[in-house]
Amino acid sequence: MSQKINTDALKNLSREELIEKLQNYQQQIAGFRVAQRKTNTLFYIMRNLSQELELDSLLKLVMDEVKDILQADRCTVFLLDDEKDELWSKVGHGLENFEIRFPKSKGIAGYVATTGEVLKIDDCYNSPYFNPEIDRKTGYRTRNMLTVPMRNKKMEVIGVFQVLNKRSGIFTDEDVRMLEAIAPIAAVQLENAQLYVDLRHTFESFILTLSKIVDARDPLTAGHSYRIMLYGDIIAKKAGWSRKKREELKTAALLHDLGKIGIRDNVLTKTTRLTAEEYEHVKSHVSFTRSFLEQIYFSREYKQVARIAAAHHERLDGAGYPDGLKGDEIPPGGRILAIADIFDALTSKRHYRDRMALQKVIHILIDGAGKIFDAEFVGYFMQISLLKLVRILEHNSPQKLPEEELKILAHHTLSDLKKSSLENHAWTKVFFKYYLREYQEK
Ligand SMILES: [Fe+2]
Repeated sequence: MSQKINTDALKNLSREELIEKLQNYQQQIAGFRVAQRKTNTLFYIMRNLSQELELDSLLKLVMDEVKDILQADRCTVFLLDDEKDELWSKVGHGLENFEIRFPKSKGIAGYVATTGEVLKIDDCYNSPYFNPEIDRKTGYRTRNMLTVPMRNKKMEVIGVFQVLNKRSGIFTDEDVRMLEAIAPIAAVQLENAQLYVDLRHTFESFILTLSKIVDARDPLTAGHSYRIMLYGDIIAKKAGWSRKKREELKTAALLHDLGKIGIRDNVLTKTTRLTAEEYEHVKSHVSFTRSFLEQIYFSREYKQVARIAAAHHERLDGAGYPDGLKGDEIPPGGRILAIADIFDALTSKRHYRDRMALQKVIHILIDGAGKIFDAEFVGYFMQISLLKLVRILEHNSPQKLPEEELKILAHHTLSDLKKSSLENHAWTKVFFKYYLREYQEK
């Protein structure tokens, strides 16, 4: 880029010629700077796109950068919905609160998606392709527009990238080249992100279904694994765990009783006292859980799932099962699940008893803190808001909760229920109305 200036040649130039030369150099330098900035932006987008797998964040990242570099007012990425033959905008500047959907045959975006051509429109309202419906819906006035197709690795159009209203003047050929360079990079990453989302949904629905299969063995335990997941996550959140660690814990929570599949029906649903042999058989569900989960392939972030799930009946003092682990030998996730599991078991109706009085449940947790249960995690659990608690207890109920009535519970925690003489408070009346409500057997 460096140019050597011939100073001898400059000596013979007039003042006007020198000024002109100088202006030319300045223009060249400005041009180089713009080009360098665009190259930097391209690298920035490429680097960040490859690290981003969340679809929404990915789209927003690309749109913000493109808007900035092309000096435009807005960007929208329309994705193609093959099944419905429509285009839809999941994210777009000015489209934060609603999604736009229209047939693939309509408008400039539709034209670009169908033909794969690039369209640069300098005056939209005088273009036969322009669909003013979107402006009418959004209250925006589109003046000019640049639209390029987004192609995947197989060169199929998967959407279009649209940039609206150049801040001054109209979009240039340089802008077209820039957007044409960005669109395929974004398209490939977008497809990867979509694939990742699909895989995640498959994984999550598979895990949820497995947990429901376990709970369905006995109607009285319906929703148990799901509630354990919610309770466990509240503790982990309060303990400041990362999103990844919490996801692993949630998976372990949903699958903690998977081994119950291996327990005989007549023992699992027995309403009278278990014999010693039957009790040992029930206890073996944890070993089944571990061996089943060890058969499933989990990615790196979920490697501890089997270990955490298999530790939900361990006790801090070593008197738990199946391994009799003590204190820190029990993985933290297992220590959290132990609290969530016992709390849900005691606050649920069982074949041989009703919901236990909540004061008694709290007493069991507090009394066991440091001996059976991890004291720090019990402390976090006691901070659970009563509003959240009612929502979890009632999550399976077909009745809609009266939010207005429940508001009062947001200011009180489980810990507040430790204190005596609670009966006369308005918030305790609301809470116990739900807690003591007759359990509906299905
Ligand atoms: Fe269990």
